[in-house]
Amino acid sequence: MRYATIGTSWITGSFIEGAIIAGNMQLGAVYSRNEKNGKEFSEKFGCVPVYTDLLKLAECPSIDAVYIASPNVFHYEQSKLFLLHGKHVICEKPATVTSAQLIELITLAKQKGLVYIEAIMMRYLPARTLLHKAIGQIGDITTARFDFSQLSSKFSELSAGRLPNIFNPAMSTGCLMDLGIYCVYAAIDLFGRPDSIAARAGFLKCGADGYGSAIFDYPDKQLTLTYSKIGQSVRGSEIMGTKGTITIDSVSKLTGITLIRNIDNIEESRLLIGDIPKPQLMSHEAAAFFRFAQNPRGFADEIDEEGRITLAVCETMEDMRRRCGIRFADDIK
Ligand SMILES: NC(=O)c1ccc[n+]([C@@H]2O[C@H](COP(=O)([O-])OP(=O)(O)OC[C@H]3O[C@@H](n4cnc5c(N)ncnc54)[C@H](OP(=O)(O)O)[C@@H]3O)[C@@H](O)[C@H]2O)c1
Repeated sequence: MRYATIGTSWITGSFIEGAIIAGNMQLGAVYSRNEKNGKEFSEKFGCVPVYTDLLKLAECPSIDAVYIASPNVFHYEQSKLFLLHGKHVICEKPATVTSAQLIELITLAKQKGLVYIEAIMMRYLPARTLLHKAIGQIGDITTARFDFSQLSSKFSELSAGRLPNIFNPAMSTGCLMDLGIYCVYAAIDLFGRPDSIAARAGFLKCGADGYGSAIFDYPDKQLTLTYSKIGQSVRGSEIMGTKGTITIDSVSKLTGITLIRNIDNIEESRLLIGDIPKPQLMSHEAAAFFRFAQNPRGFADEIDEEGRITLAVCETMEDMRRRCGIRFADDIK
């Protein structure tokens, strides 16, 4: 399968390296708004052709698929363009801003017999299966807290008076869309949709949410979600049950997972998964994307399940944004 990329930042490089590890996928072209940028990027990955015209890339007959890693606000239009031109699409998280956009694209992909999935690492990691199994070993779970607080590498730029994309609400981004999404994804993937939600956000001068928190209520449990782009957590996440606890260092990568079981008042601790380099983590989503694209009908159940959870997360984040007062241009349309 020959694929193209949109976006020339480090995350696209990690995906390309992940796709090399996964095998079967050849980078066929890169897109950049800027020829020089595109060439510099392409040189790192085999000097593939550079496109500066997105329509021409979408029309290119030798490309079967695209990986999209542009700012969030462009995901919907770019995904739609490539689906309409018969290309499979894997798009960075969040796949779309609104659930209406997501439903439209999922429907379009189905009609055209194409694959359209969100590039959210945790979905395809072997660690996800381990975590689901571990949850069955800690008794009744009443409490969990998911945290993703990481001081942004762009914070100094923001402090110096510039406006990096990641803090620019016009790019449909901010802390919930960038980091909070992983906490929401973990909560919904492990425990389903909550019965009710409370959510608050802290806003920066630029208008973006810089940090926030939420409570997800279920009939038998309560989850707390915290996320920040202007503070660094060192404790990670925790799931607490009557017979033990699971700690998770990174909720986005599902790494540093420890199962601590309390058996007859004796604590037994086992590291289930350590740290894993980013390209290795991304190789799993690349491998799944390739597998699905080879036989979309054969994998229809898995693709549908992926679409259902992506939609549940998207709808939940829409709800959270309403409660927090985070409003993007696409929310108002
Ligand atoms: N899965 C992960 O771990 C992970 C990590 C980081 C980011 N992401 C996701 O990846 C996406 C990109 O994030 P990022 O931090 O890499 O964004 P970014 O650096 O702001 O932009 C990514 C690329 O988009 C293009 N671009 C930048 N500004 C643009 C604009 N105003 N209009 C059109 N194109 C523009 C640039 O490529 P050219 O200049 O070459 O056109 C740039 O390299 C986001 O959706 C984010 O959530 C995921």
